[in-house]
Amino acid sequence: MEKANNFYKIQNEFAYKFTRLSRTQKIGIKRIIIAIDGPAASGKSTTARRVALRLGYTYIDTGAMYRAVTLKALLAGVLDDVRREPEHIAVLLQNITIHFEGDSVFLDGQDVTAAIRDNRVSREVSFISSLKPVRDTLMQMQQALGQQGSVVMDGRDIGTVVFPDAELKIFLVADARERAKRRYAELIAKSPKGSTLPDIEQLEEEIKQRDRDDEERQHAPLKKHPDAHEIDTSQLTIEQQVEMVYSLALQTSGNVKL
Ligand code: DC
Repeated sequence: MEKANNFYKIQNEFAYKFTRLSRTQKIGIKRIIIAIDGPAASGKSTTARRVALRLGYTYIDTGAMYRAVTLKALLAGVLDDVRREPEHIAVLLQNITIHFEGDSVFLDGQDVTAAIRDNRVSREVSFISSLKPVRDTLMQMQQALGQQGSVVMDGRDIGTVVFPDAELKIFLVADARERAKRRYAELIAKSPKGSTLPDIEQLEEEIKQRDRDDEERQHAPLKKHPDAHEIDTSQLTIEQQVEMVYSLALQTSGNVKL
């Protein structure tokens, strides 16, 4: 049974890569790196995922990697120790593996795609992502994942720290109220009927707090690279954002659709 599963996995991965490759060849785009940074809920991941699909590129959600480390710390019950003595995080990072299969995220071989979106993870991830050993470890993993090109990577420090030479750098922004409304709509869509939801004001406050945490931290703070194209998405639809980034990608790679 396991053999059969592995066979299907290998076959699916092959089909996935093959589709991507033929799509890339069809539009004749070079294997560039596209770095998309910006604050929480600015539309990075949806834009990055759709642009990657259109280009036949791989999408890498680096926020998911910080969330995976946070989940590991929670499961190991070491958060309080790490808060007292940050060097405790090193043990956790020693044998960690994080990999992606399509839209799924795996931590040490386990599928954690849903678990990393848990509220407890969201509350602690700013702290975990402020630790230098965590950033160094994940930066190395991200550089290895992106070294072949043909990737769209989103996060907070991709254009500034992880791939400062990325051929295309995008910085997405949107006003906090608009981002809170988007989060609210997402929560309504995802939550079971009758659940209590935070109101928009509260979400806006949380978003502003995360902006401050990400911008003010000592290591790799959120900031725009001078070469990045800044796009304000407050008044844009997802389709418009995707179109803008996709066009920039075609221009940057010096190719046009064949
Ligand atoms: O994109 P997200 O909200 O899932 O990211 C979760 C957290 O990870 C966010 O608080 C900032 C942090 N992060 C980071 O510090 N650097 C990145 N490249 C990506 C995310």
